[in-house]
Amino acid sequence: MSKVYLNGEYMALDQAKVSVLDRGFLFADGVYEVIPAYGGHLLRMEEHLQRLQNSLDAIRLQNPLKNQQWRDIIQSLLSDVENEVTGSDKSVYLQVTRGAAPIRNHGFPQQIKQTVFIMVNELGVVNKEDLRSGVSAITLDDIRWKACNIKSISLLGNILLRQQAHDNNAAEAILINQGMVTEGAASNVFAVINNVLVTAPIGPQLLPGITRDLIVELGAKNNIAVEEREYTEEELLSASEIWFSSSTKEILPVVELNGKPVANGRPGPMWEKMIDLYQANKENLRNGSAK
Ligand code: PDD
Repeated sequence: MSKVYLNGEYMALDQAKVSVLDRGFLFADGVYEVIPAYGGHLLRMEEHLQRLQNSLDAIRLQNPLKNQQWRDIIQSLLSDVENEVTGSDKSVYLQVTRGAAPIRNHGFPQQIKQTVFIMVNELGVVNKEDLRSGVSAITLDDIRWKACNIKSISLLGNILLRQQAHDNNAAEAILINQGMVTEGAASNVFAVINNVLVTAPIGPQLLPGITRDLIVELGAKNNIAVEEREYTEEELLSASEIWFSSSTKEILPVVELNGKPVANGRPGPMWEKMIDLYQANKENLRNGSAK
């Protein structure tokens, strides 16, 4: 079994234990990151570490490690799994909580040590052919709070929305906040509207996805018209293409929305172009010529 990292030590997953008084357990008082690794190379590590810092700042928690320490620990976990199963791509999950206080009390405790946990999972093969089958989605009212830009481990809203999508035979929910599209339950959303690739602007109502930013960047570099702007559910319903983006699903086309096909029910030409750019970027990362 591959090793995990917990509070300064490397151990087997079943040996990793935290206190029931940990504020992560009692209050979901913590933040996390999910970082894909292709052939042992971390995708956009700088950006993930910056977003982690932003989340920690937002919940007023000190970063327990320096960036180089994060890198070293994660690389060591990755090389450990690489020694077991070579070749497959990975996703790194890291979590920081405010730690275990002597008693349960909502206010921040004095002088406790953060809990730091990191594990590596299989990413699962994400290739163009598998993605091409696409998924079904439904629109749901975004019931979450006003700080969705924080990558908080408090995901109750997200998991209830995801489950509601599953209960309606859909893979993912597209969340609507006061008539405007925000994001998915665990992904960002793109729509092609009048041949322009549109995604909601960064703000408190959505997570600033690293995959999202990469797509916007790839679009700008490759003559694809991209707009980061607010757009309505009506615009979404008439879009010629809809995609989800995330570190683990990359760019996933939505082929059915609210029980109706999106355009002709197959991924569109803009997706075909973007997924090639994304896969090429991945290959460059694998051979060390991208970050
Ligand atoms: N989730 N929005 C939400 C609410 C998310 O949970 C995620 C990713 C994203 C996409 O962000 P990124 O491109 O940085 O992965 C957007 C991760 C994968 C998760 O919770 O497992």
